[in-house]
Amino acid sequence: MIAGTERSGEAGRGLKGGRPALVEAGLRDGGGGQRAPVLWAGLGAVAGLGAALGGYAFLYEPFDVRTERLAVRLLRDKAGVPGEGLNILHLSDTHFRGADRREHAKIEQVRRAMAGEEIDLLIHTGDFLHKDSGLDNVLALIDSIPKPRLGAYAVTGNHDHVFYNMRRAPQYSWRLFRAREAENGANSGAGYSAEKAKFSSAGLGDLYRFGRYLLSNRFDGEPAGVNDIGRLRRALEERGMQFLDNRAVRLSGTGVYLVGIEDLMEGQPDLHGSLAGVPQDAPTVLLSHNPDIIESAAAGRADLILAGHTHGGQIVLPLIGPTYTQTEQLSRGEASGYSRWGRTQVYVHRGLGEGVPVRFGAPPHVTFIRLLPARPHFGGDGAGRNGSKG
Ligand SMILES: [Fe+2]
Repeated sequence: MIAGTERSGEAGRGLKGGRPALVEAGLRDGGGGQRAPVLWAGLGAVAGLGAALGGYAFLYEPFDVRTERLAVRLLRDKAGVPGEGLNILHLSDTHFRGADRREHAKIEQVRRAMAGEEIDLLIHTGDFLHKDSGLDNVLALIDSIPKPRLGAYAVTGNHDHVFYNMRRAPQYSWRLFRAREAENGANSGAGYSAEKAKFSSAGLGDLYRFGRYLLSNRFDGEPAGVNDIGRLRRALEERGMQFLDNRAVRLSGTGVYLVGIEDLMEGQPDLHGSLAGVPQDAPTVLLSHNPDIIESAAAGRADLILAGHTHGGQIVLPLIGPTYTQTEQLSRGEASGYSRWGRTQVYVHRGLGEGVPVRFGAPPHVTFIRLLPARPHFGGDGAGRNGSKG
C-alpha cells in the first residue's frame, strides 16, 4: 500500500509538472504483477507487528512485576508517626482465578521482591479474586510474604463480591450510558424519557456522546454472578489479616489510624461512620479499593489514601494514555501512582493481576511505601487539587 501511494504521488507530480517520463515510469511500475506482492508484504508486516505486540501484552508484561518505592511525608503536623517511619507493603488487584501457571509466576516474582525486606504493615486494597477458583493462589501469595510487624490489613474490591462478563461489556455499557442519558435528560427537564432512551435508535450524536462516555472511563462488564466473599475473608482472617470494612483501627505502638471502607460499587461504604472514632489530629491512612472516594469531602481528613481498582489503565497507548481506568474522579494522569489533593496524598496501585489478561505500558508491581512524619514547622498551604506532585 505504501508503494502504491508513492506511485500515485509520482504520477500526480508528473502530470502537474509536465514530466511525462515520470508518468510513464510510474505507470509501468504500477503493473499488477508487482502490486500484489507488495500489498501482501505490507499486510504481513502489520500482522506480524500486531502479533508481536499481542504476544508481549499477553505473555510478557503481565509477569514483569516491578518494585516501586516511595516515601510519603505527612503534609500536616500530626503526632504519632514514628520518626523512622512505617514501612508499608502495598498490594492490590491480584485478580486470581486459578490460572495456576500465570498466578504462580506472579507469586514467585513477589517472593523475590520481598527478599531482604522488613515490613511493618501489609496492605491489600482489594480485588483479591477474579473468581472463587483463585482463592488457593491468593492464600499462597499471602503465605509467601514474611509476617509484617504491625499486621496485615485489607479492604475488599468489587470483584471480590461479583464476577463480570466482559464479552457483554459493550452492550452493558451502552445500556448504562442510555440510562444515564435518560436520567440527565429527566433532571434537566429536556423531555428525555427512559423509554425513549431504551427504544429509540442511535444517531450519530448518540454515538459521539457514547464515545465520550467510554473515554471518560466507563466501560463496564455485565455482572454475571457472585463470589464467596465470606469464604475469602474467613480464609485470610485465619492467616491474621484484618478487614477494615467501614471501620478504623489504631496501629499498635503508634498514633496512626488505619481506616477502611467497603467498595463503592458493590459494598455499602460509610466513610463518615468509619472516621467517627478517629481523632481529628491523628495521622490517618484511608484504604479504599476505588480511588473515586476522593470525591467525598470527608476523604480530605485522610493524610494518605491507598487505592487500586484502575489497573493503571492496563493498556497505555501512545498519545491516548491509559485506556481503561474505571475512575470518574481522577484524570488519566492520576489513574495510577502518586497524586496530591490539598494535604491529602493519594497512591493508586496498578495491581498485580488483571481481569482481561493483557497489559501494555502498565506493568504489575508491588510497592514499598515509607510513611514519615511531617517536616518540623511544615508551612505549605496545601490549597488546591494537585498543587504539587511527586
Ligand atoms: Fe481490579
